[in-house]
Amino acid sequence: MAQVMINKEICTGCGLCVKDCSRNAIVLLNGKAEADSELCNECGHCLAICPFGSVSMPLYDADEIIKFDEEKMSIEPDKLLNFLKFRRSIRQFKDKDIEPETLNKIIEAGRYSPTASNRQMNRFIIIRGKLNEVRDVAIKTLYDMGNDPSCIDKASWSLYHKAWIKMYEDYKEKNVDRLFFNAPAVIAIVSEEKAGFADVNGGIAASRMELEANSLGLGVCYIGFFKRAITYNKKLRELIGMKENEEFILCFVLGYPNVKYQRTVNRKPAVVRYI
Ligand SMILES: Cc1cc2nc3c(=O)[nH]c(=O)nc-3n(C[C@H](O)[C@H](O)[C@H](O)COP(=O)(O)O)c2cc1C
Repeated sequence: MAQVMINKEICTGCGLCVKDCSRNAIVLLNGKAEADSELCNECGHCLAICPFGSVSMPLYDADEIIKFDEEKMSIEPDKLLNFLKFRRSIRQFKDKDIEPETLNKIIEAGRYSPTASNRQMNRFIIIRGKLNEVRDVAIKTLYDMGNDPSCIDKASWSLYHKAWIKMYEDYKEKNVDRLFFNAPAVIAIVSEEKAGFADVNGGIAASRMELEANSLGLGVCYIGFFKRAITYNKKLRELIGMKENEEFILCFVLGYPNVKYQRTVNRKPAVVRYI
């Protein structure tokens, strides 16, 4: 089935889709737009730009398309920048579940992220029911790594091994969770397969999901330690239901913050070169 259908009765041949197609996949034939399926990467620019609504993508759900509305779709830039600056990693959470519709909005933010060549290979794993089991295995794995200097590069091991051993001891002796911070959910982003830019695609999605979560009153903390653990202990891959060819990209904990910040923080000055 063609990715892009052009209703020839509505198409006026204005050429806006031809000009905006990054793949050169649309041409004008007899004054009407015509798409080449082999070149198309389903980015949807033609559908978005057509002033007459003559483009459709039959492989996708037409009902999810939203018509442009300035009031609903524009953001005040200074407010956005302040919002970005005020964002913090959250490591203290309320004992409160996240509503399914709230989770869905966060997934939507990830789903609508740009991906290289529009390959859309990000997959989202929401860890809730199995969270305790996953935490148990991950913290024990980090403990094992703390005792295994060959598990990663020397510099990283020197930096983290004591923290990992202490994390395990505190968890066992005092029930303190320094991995997931007792958050009610963890979201892992995996790529459908190993591919160029898979990590960048996942990182972009995660960042947008974090901001959407923040806007919904939730807090997020990326957990790089979990990626270390899952790389070392393949059992964790199975535990979180990863498929054979999937590549783990990153994860974050998510929940309602039990902490309130009063101000933004400092950062090193930006190092910028104009050339
Ligand atoms: C890729 C990545 C991995 C991270 N891994 C962890 C982690 O394993 N545990 C943790 O407590 N924080 C982790 N963080 C959070 C950073 O420590 C935090 O972003 C940084 O200290 C700056 O604080 P802020 O996010 O509040 O601005 C991670 C952040 C990123 C971007």
